[in-house]
Amino acid sequence: MARVVVTGKIPSGGLERLKAEHEVTAWEKDDAISRAELLTMVAGADAIVSLLTEKIDDELLDAAGPQLKSVSNVAVGYNNIDVPACEKRGVLVTNTPGVLTEATADIAMALILMSTRRLAEGERVIRKQEPWQWGMFYMLGMGLQGRQLGIVGMGQIGIATARRAKAFGMNIAYTRRSPLEDNVVKELDAKYMSMDELIESSDVISLHCPYSPATHHLISENQFARMKKTAFLINTARGPIVHEQALVDALKSGEIAGAGLDVFENEPAVNPGLLELDNAVLIPHLGSATVETRAAMADIAATNALAILAGAQAPNLVTS
Ligand code: GLV
Repeated sequence: MARVVVTGKIPSGGLERLKAEHEVTAWEKDDAISRAELLTMVAGADAIVSLLTEKIDDELLDAAGPQLKSVSNVAVGYNNIDVPACEKRGVLVTNTPGVLTEATADIAMALILMSTRRLAEGERVIRKQEPWQWGMFYMLGMGLQGRQLGIVGMGQIGIATARRAKAFGMNIAYTRRSPLEDNVVKELDAKYMSMDELIESSDVISLHCPYSPATHHLISENQFARMKKTAFLINTARGPIVHEQALVDALKSGEIAGAGLDVFENEPAVNPGLLELDNAVLIPHLGSATVETRAAMADIAATNALAILAGAQAPNLVTS
């Protein structure tokens, strides 16, 4: 029996599978664990099952001890984990790709619709009981049909978002580090573009790349200046890919038309400048937040942790 530490509440299926084979210490409260409690809890762990809100760095790995074998993130993004620090110690790192693709693409599409059709703004009018009346020119948005969606990072979630947008009549452009499979290019009639070309020519730009030092502030003042004044920026990836203050400035000055954000640079804090803007749609990191998806994520994290503890190959190993 190994000692498994689960750093936050996870759906019961995954948790029960871990408990069936190992001694599990799990954080049971709704509020996220504090750093001090986390450092105490991980001491002596053979495996850690972590949430994206927990920073797994040298300090935490030292607190866990040299017997630690694995860190299984219950998320597809793993920028909360210092992977080189884990590799240095021989600690394997896993994530949960695949199972949250559709749920996250749904949220990206929802944000595209919400921002281009001013849905949150409209809802606020009703809720605040402000006077309103149907009018020929009242609260007009931008139609999606024939518009270009530029996908930055055409991985699984980017492709799933493009599929949805194509069904709404959008044309698809994308950037990607490696060539996209021919059948996907064909299916989506997707056009490869350089980052500059994509930013300058897209009507909606949706971010789907992982967050890393290479993508820190990928979208900043310079990029906003090159975007169409009618463009919308959608972020369901990670907050710090966008320079949030530069986004506030671009939205305020009319350099771009709007933004739909599920993630923020200093989550859970949100730049106060965004709160004042009607052309920013803001939702609290809900990309993978469906009952089914969260259960599948916990299950995959458990599968990975159990495989490593059994000395088998984990299905979802990540490397730096
Ligand atoms: C969610 O943001 C994830 O990376 O799984």
